[in-house]
Amino acid sequence: MISYISYRNAPLKYTGEVRIFDEQAFQGMRKVCNLAARCLDELAELVKPGMTTKEIDSFVFSFGVEHGALPADLNYRGYTASCCTSINHVVCHGIPDNKPLREGDILNIDVTYILDGWHGDTGRMYSVGKIKRAAERLIEVTHECLMRGIASVKPGIRTGTIGAAIQQYAEAEHCSVVRDFCGHGVGQIFHDAPSILHYGTPDHGIELREGMIFTIEPMINLGKAGVKILKDGWTAVTRDRSLSAQYEHTVAVTKTGYEIFTL
Ligand code: MF3
Ligand code: CO
Ligand code: CO
Repeated sequence: MISYISYRNAPLKYTGEVRIFDEQAFQGMRKVCNLAARCLDELAELVKPGMTTKEIDSFVFSFGVEHGALPADLNYRGYTASCCTSINHVVCHGIPDNKPLREGDILNIDVTYILDGWHGDTGRMYSVGKIKRAAERLIEVTHECLMRGIASVKPGIRTGTIGAAIQQYAEAEHCSVVRDFCGHGVGQIFHDAPSILHYGTPDHGIELREGMIFTIEPMINLGKAGVKILKDGWTAVTRDRSLSAQYEHTVAVTKTGYEIFTL
């Protein structure tokens, strides 16, 4: 049975309960989410053929620290970088390295900062120089999936309605939805309840209430949905090596709908 609890009465660890946040929490979340979004804005200027994902990672670290924030990824469950950089057939959790980006690559950069104890989690797609039309279409479809998922958010709907909105659009566009990773509650805990699946059935799952905060972060593939994890224990890739894309926002449920914190 799912229960809802004021974040003020809940311990600072995962309990499976869904936290309800107040205006003070919203203010903290707006601040950190805005910082993460600004980092992604600035990266748009930097991503070019020849740049390495390690250089992107250094930028994410420095930009955060300069603004009083720490990257939540660093040392998270043994992860050793400040962000995830997922190129082409990498679905998510790509580890920054010294390989230069190449013309035609598409990549996701996913940044989470912690500021005043609040987590702001967001990711976007970037094109390296000129990319193929199929890659461009995948990026458009994936962004539309995220925005359709968000558009469904309001008190009273269930998490399955979000997933269904994403799945219906992705599949109508002949793309597939990755099942192995999901969106998550976020606040003073990085990955909290509830899980937000990017596929599902309308009116199934837990009911949304005003004051909930979570991410929606669909991973969409041009080919089949299957993924595998590489030997590094993190990098998720498509089994069929088809291109994959992801967008992520941190979103709150408001009285009448939603607020996107990471715009
Ligand atoms: N930012 C990812 C998410 O959207 C999580 C990355 S965890 C890491 O939830 F350890 F891989 F960095
Ligand atoms: Co996330
Ligand atoms: Co993220």
